[in-house]
Amino acid sequence: MTVIAIDGTFASGKGTLGKRLASHYKMPYLDTGKLYRAVAYKLMETKNSPENLVEAINAAKEIKPEDLKIPELKSGNVAVNASKVAAHVEVRKELLKFQKDFAKKGGILDGRDIGTVICPDAEVKLFIDAKSEIRAHRRHLELNANQESISFETVLKQLTERDTRDMNRKNAPLKIAATAHIIDTTDMTANDVFENAREIIDSIIF
Ligand code: C5P
Repeated sequence: MTVIAIDGTFASGKGTLGKRLASHYKMPYLDTGKLYRAVAYKLMETKNSPENLVEAINAAKEIKPEDLKIPELKSGNVAVNASKVAAHVEVRKELLKFQKDFAKKGGILDGRDIGTVICPDAEVKLFIDAKSEIRAHRRHLELNANQESISFETVLKQLTERDTRDMNRKNAPLKIAATAHIIDTTDMTANDVFENAREIIDSIIF
C-alpha cells in the first residue's frame, strides 16, 4: 500500500498540500496534528492542564475518528496545548495505533514524525518548511479569518515556542527524515508547492 509521509513545521503549508494531494491521487488523508489537538481540547474542556500526564493519557485513549471533526481544534490555544501534550511519550504511544492502522491501508499522512517514526517505510517522504515570519503571517491571517483577535507578534512568539518544543522533545522530535525531499514554501504559492510535490511523487511511484 502506498504511503506518502508529509512532515514539517507549523503553518508551512503541509496541511494544504496533504489535502490537495489526497484529492489529486484519490488517496485517504490523515492530519495527525488533529489527534494531538483533540487530546489537548479534551483536557481544556475538563479544565485539566496539558501537563497532567494521567488525564492526558486517558484523553488519548478515548480519541475516536469523530473527535477530529470538532471545529474548535483549529483554535490558537488548542494548538499551543497540543504541542505540550505531544511531548508526553505515553500520549504518543496511545496515538500510535490509530496512525499505524490508518497507514496500513495506504494514504497520505501529515505531521511531525510520519517519515521518521510512524511510517519509516513510506514510499515518498516530504519535508515542508518556510521562514518563521512567513508562517506566522499565514497563521495570523487564518486566525483572523476565524474571528480570533491576536497580534502578529504573539502568533510569531507562539510559533517559535512550538517549533522549539517540537524539535527538542526527547520522543519523536520534528526532524528531517534521511530520504525526505525538502520543499521550502517561503516564496511559493500553494499551487507551486502542489506542482513541486506532484513532480516528486510522480517520479517516484506513478
Ligand atoms: O500540525 P498541527 O499544528 O495541527 O499539530 C499540533 C501539534 O501536535 C504540533 O505542534 C506537534 O507538537 C504535535 N504533533 C506531533 N506529531 C504529529 C503531529 C502533530 O507531535 N505527527
